[in-house]
Amino acid sequence: MQKKTVKDVDVRGKRVLVRVDFNVPLGPDGTIEDDSRIRACLPTITYLINHSAKIILCSHLGRPHGKVVESLRLAPVARRLSELLTRPVISLRETIGPRVEKTVADLKDGEVVFLENLRFYPGEEENNPGFSQDLSRLADLYVNDAFGASHRSHASVVGISPFLPCVAGLLMEKELEQLSNLLEHPDRPFAVILGGAKVEEKIGILENIIPKVDLVLVGGGAAAAFLKIQGNPVGNTPVDAETMKVVEKTILRDAMLRGVRILLPEDIVVTKIPEPGSPSLIVPSDQIPPDYVIADIGPRTIATFTKEIEHCRTVAWNGPMGIFEILQFSKGTKAVAQALAGLAGTTVVGGGSTAEAVTQLGLAGKMTHVSTGGGAFLRFLSGKTLPGVDVLLNR
Ligand code: 3PG
Ligand code: MG
Repeated sequence: MQKKTVKDVDVRGKRVLVRVDFNVPLGPDGTIEDDSRIRACLPTITYLINHSAKIILCSHLGRPHGKVVESLRLAPVARRLSELLTRPVISLRETIGPRVEKTVADLKDGEVVFLENLRFYPGEEENNPGFSQDLSRLADLYVNDAFGASHRSHASVVGISPFLPCVAGLLMEKELEQLSNLLEHPDRPFAVILGGAKVEEKIGILENIIPKVDLVLVGGGAAAAFLKIQGNPVGNTPVDAETMKVVEKTILRDAMLRGVRILLPEDIVVTKIPEPGSPSLIVPSDQIPPDYVIADIGPRTIATFTKEIEHCRTVAWNGPMGIFEILQFSKGTKAVAQALAGLAGTTVVGGGSTAEAVTQLGLAGKMTHVSTGGGAFLRFLSGKTLPGVDVLLNR
């Protein structure tokens, strides 16, 4: 890797500010619904503990937009981290300031302190240099292990870089290596599976990846734009006219010129109201009735998609095949996840809801890599650099 990591610098006895992305999904009662992002940073934190650093963790949680929101305090996250590390984690109710500086000054080698939600301060999202400097005063070294936030030009991600030496954490290193491998030398055949509600968000990936792949499988609401271009009705599934134009003029054209196959669903599960228990129909994909929306791929499509996946040596997947949060519409997503889990080749899954689906199904461990990035994953696969990575020291 081109970037320096925590292993390239001396951390012994140093105060190390570690930016993590512990923006975990919370249930209605504030419980942590998926702690994957916390677990993913354990290698970096454990490395720093074992190398006698003083560890100062910082993260955002949710979008409080510069104000204190009680339900978005990081104390429960710090508690979970403490359980996973099986050692104490000191949880603070502030992020910067004299009291925080005092606690940090008293830290002993190997101790861990967790700062309050960065986004309780307007300076974080505004990328305010004063806020970055206040943060930097707490430490001798900065480690970015927040791959999932590295597309944000915020004070703790980008603005901090003039004030401290900045290196990558071990999760950041793993994410960059896995995702670069995927784009630079994938084993062929290489398929990308795209789903999710909004194809607009995936246009960048499609543009960047068509020259590199052999096959694209499109499911979920994302299929609507493609179906509509072919002149098919898509019921009430929303399709953006601008997106359709780009898909038709750029993506489909490029795919045709390069001999890349784009497979759309043959059959689709549709419903009038995407809610648990609401009635649904399975229809040929060129016959979506008015008033209905796409809820899942149908059984024939599942059979075709899984067969295609079996022949691949590399598969990248972003976006569920339907409304997988609703059990009756989760069959397509589940089948694709199982097909990937059974593949001997390289399987990379990313984007918030897709990673959650795979984790919920208990299949995350069967994938080569499950990215912790949502927007950051999409941006990286679009071939764009990440501002939080750009500012890290080169080797
Ligand atoms: C994410 O969950 O995608 C990251 O934590 C970034 O969060 P944000 O989209 O609120 O900036
Ligand atoms: Mg997001």
